[in-house]
Formats: sequence, C-alpha cells, structure tokens
Amino acid sequence: VVGAGAAGLCAARHVLSRPGCFAPPVVFELSDSVGGTWCYDERVGTYDSGRPVHSSMYRDLTNLPKEVMMFPDFPFDPQLSSFLPHQEVQRYLERYCQSHGIRPHIRFNTTVESVKPIVVTAEGEEERTAWEVTSSDLSGRQKTETFDSVFVCSTVLHSHSYRFAEPFSGQSVVVLGAKASGLDISIELAKVGAQRFQDGSVTEADVLMFCTGYNFRFPFLDAAQLGLEIQDHMISPLYRFMVPPAFPSLFFIGICKIICPFPNFNCQVQFALAVLAGSVTLPTRAQMEDEVRRELQVKLERGVQHRHLLILDQDQWEYCNMLSRSAGFSPLPPVIRSLFEEVHQQRQIHPENYRKLNYRLISDTQWE
Ligand SMILES: Cc1cc2nc3c(=O)[nH]c(=O)nc-3n(C[C@H](O)[C@H](O)[C@H](O)COP(=O)(O)OP(=O)(O)OC[C@H]3O[C@@H](n4cnc5c(N)ncnc54)[C@H](O)[C@@H]3O)c2cc1C
Ligand SMILES: *[C@@H]1O[C@H](CO)[C@@H](O)[C@H](O)[C@H]1NC(C)=O
Repeated sequence: VVGAGAAGLCAARHVLSRPGCFAPPVVFELSDSVGGTWCYDERVGTYDSGRPVHSSMYRDLTNLPKEVMMFPDFPFDPQLSSFLPHQEVQRYLERYCQSHGIRPHIRFNTTVESVKPIVVTAEGEEERTAWEVTSSDLSGRQKTETFDSVFVCSTVLHSHSYRFAEPFSGQSVVVLGAKASGLDISIELAKVGAQRFQDGSVTEADVLMFCTGYNFRFPFLDAAQLGLEIQDHMISPLYRFMVPPAFPSLFFIGICKIICPFPNFNCQVQFALAVLAGSVTLPTRAQMEDEVRRELQVKLERGVQHRHLLILDQDQWEYCNMLSRSAGFSPLPPVIRSLFEEVHQQRQIHPENYRKLNYRLISDTQWE
C-alpha cells in the first residue's frame, strides 16, 4: 500500500480484517505520520530537508459533516459537532489506525521510488505478474521487495498553497475556479475584507489564486509500461476507476472526483480485495478496455471536458452500489446520500452559515 492517508489506511484495515485470505500489508509512507492531507502543516513549499510539504489542507475548514464523512463502519466521536476542524479528522484517522492495529504495518519515512510489474513463475504454476517495489529511507538507502498486489493510495498534489485568509486582508484577490476550494476560500477571504466585485468596477488584482483542482503525479510508476496515460487531471484506462486492464493486481484508490471520499474509498477497497480473493472475476483485458473506452466516449459526447472525466458527482452512489453488488459487501446506507445532498444544497443557499448546523443519523435511511 503506497501512502498512509485515508485511502491507504482503509486499504490496510480491510486487508488486516481477512487474515485467512491475505498476508498483512506493508504500508509505505513518506512522511512520519498517518493522515496524509489531514496532517496539517502551516508550512508550504518544501521543508528544510528539501522534501515537499504534502498537506493541501487549509487551516479552518471541513466541508462535509462528520455523519457522512466517516468510514461507514467507524463513527466519529458523537460528542463532536458535525463540521469539524481538520485536527479532529486527523485525530479520527489516528484512532482508526490505532483500533485496527495498522501502525505496526506502516513504514514511515519511506518513499516509494518505483513500482514495476515483473513476471514470476513458481514451480508447477502458471506465469503471473508480481510487483517489484523499490523504496528508500531517509538516509537514501534503497530496498527492493516483491508483492502480489499494489494499492496506490498516494493521491497527492497541489492546490494553491493556501492556508488561511488573514494575509489577504484588504487585498484584491482573483479566485479562479468555483468548486469546493474556490468557494471555501472565497468565503474566508470575504470575511477578512478582501475585495470582490459585483458592480462591474475594475482594478488591478494583488493576487491571482488558482483553485483549479488537483493534478495526479505518480513518479514511481511507469505509465507507458502499465498501458496508462496520466495527464491533465486524468488517468486512463482504469476499469471501474481503479484497475489498469493490463495489470489487474494494481489498484488506484481515491482517484474519483466530487465524491464523498471516505465512504467511496471504503467501497473501492472492498471491491479490490474481492478481486484479489477471487470472489469477483474481472472481465478479460480487452473487455475491460472496451468498457472504459465506451464509458468515456459517452461522457465526451455529452460534452464533458477531458479533465473532468473522473468526476462522479451524482453518479457516485450508483458507482458504489455497483461495486457492492458485484463484490457482495453491504452497500452504503441511503442516509449517506440523502445527507450528502442536503448539505450540498445548504451550502449553495447558505455558503457562509451551512457549517453551523448539526446533524444526527437516526437510521440507515433517516437523519435529523
Ligand atoms: C483543502 C482540502 C479540503 C478537503 N476537505 C474535505 C472534507 O471536508 N471532507 C472530506 O471528506 N474530504 C475532504 N478533502 C478530500 C481529501 O482529499 C480526502 O478526505 C482524503 O484525505 C484523501 O486521502 P488519500 O489517502 O487519498 O490521500 P492523501 O491524504 O493525500 O494521502 C496520501 C499519502 O501518501 C503518501 N505518499 C505520497 N507519495 C508517496 C510515495 N511515493 N511513497 C510513500 N508514500 C507516499 C503521502 O505522504 C500521504 O500520507 C479535502 C481535500 C483538500 C485538499
Ligand atoms: C522519521 O524521521 C524524523 C526526522 O528525521 C524522525 O524525527 C522520526 O522519529 C522518524 N519517524 C519514524 C517513525 O521513523
């Protein structure tokens, strides 16, 4: 497992829950803590060591209530209000790690440098693909090991290096992009008296802030060898947004955009493990490639831009359901969708105040 953020921890948790089926995972984490982007750091750019600061989190926000943000099998502390400061999410992920005994399986301060498919033949067995993983520790010492399957859970990189609004007070800031971060950040900026205009007046901007989304970068993978194209917010072909058809023991967790992240990761991981355990049989390579091509084609014909092809949005629920149906695990309770959509609406109507509300799940279908 590459990365000990939410996606990597989720993968490790489910692997560990099936000791009869899977050996314990090895989780590689380049930093010295779990939590990934939730492990907030006020610094931006690079550390003194030259290593880039990974966290993209800004100081004051979460934009989903904990009731839908949680892994469905691991609630947040019920005492907490619905919209949490990022520290609480970090604490939650640490608790998730602790209660599932994941920590001993994480190699901290260890960067995955390369992941390569190799062909192995054991005596009396068919040829199969294994994965040669080279990692390095802080001293630069490299180690190469072989695994049957790899989960890429290192969904990294860029937003603008925004942390909090005060430095922009009184400045005119042009925010480019109006999805989650553009909206969140604009509201914060407005509160500290940064300028915005609705009356057609013109001025010179002090700051141009890009809130244009996150790029993928997997420096440890050779995309061409894997039959993948990774560019401009897009990675393809991935069957069910997870599996390169040519290498069905490599899984990308957390690639989709505009989703309810933790519940989505939880479904992807369970599907991936069902593939490895043999309870789900994938179609042939050609069939998978075909299906991906057709699905993307349909979206492009509907006018979806290339860089938006990984956006699930409304389709995320059917996507998760489809994964649970094919792999036979419990689907997400409908209340998650219902509350997610409610919050989305509240956010449109009351962008400055929607976080003041508190929610409670009453049943699989009802919240209050
Ligand atoms: C500003 C912002 C606000 C957000 N707000 C919310 C919110 O309110 N609610 C919500 O549910 N989601 C929110 N999200 C989405 C968030 O991305 C997900 O919740 C989740 O944290 C993603 O987890 P991940 O494990 O996929 O990636 P990450 O958290 O990025 O973790 C990846 C891990 O991989 C490690 N890694 C990377 N490369 C390597 C390598 N080569 N070798 C070893 N380790 C490596 C990194 O160090 C990191 O620990 C927000 C995201 C951002 C950026
Ligand atoms: C990781 O490296 C840092 C900095 O050298 C060190 O302080 C920390 O103890 C290391 N953590 C682990 C778990 O090895």
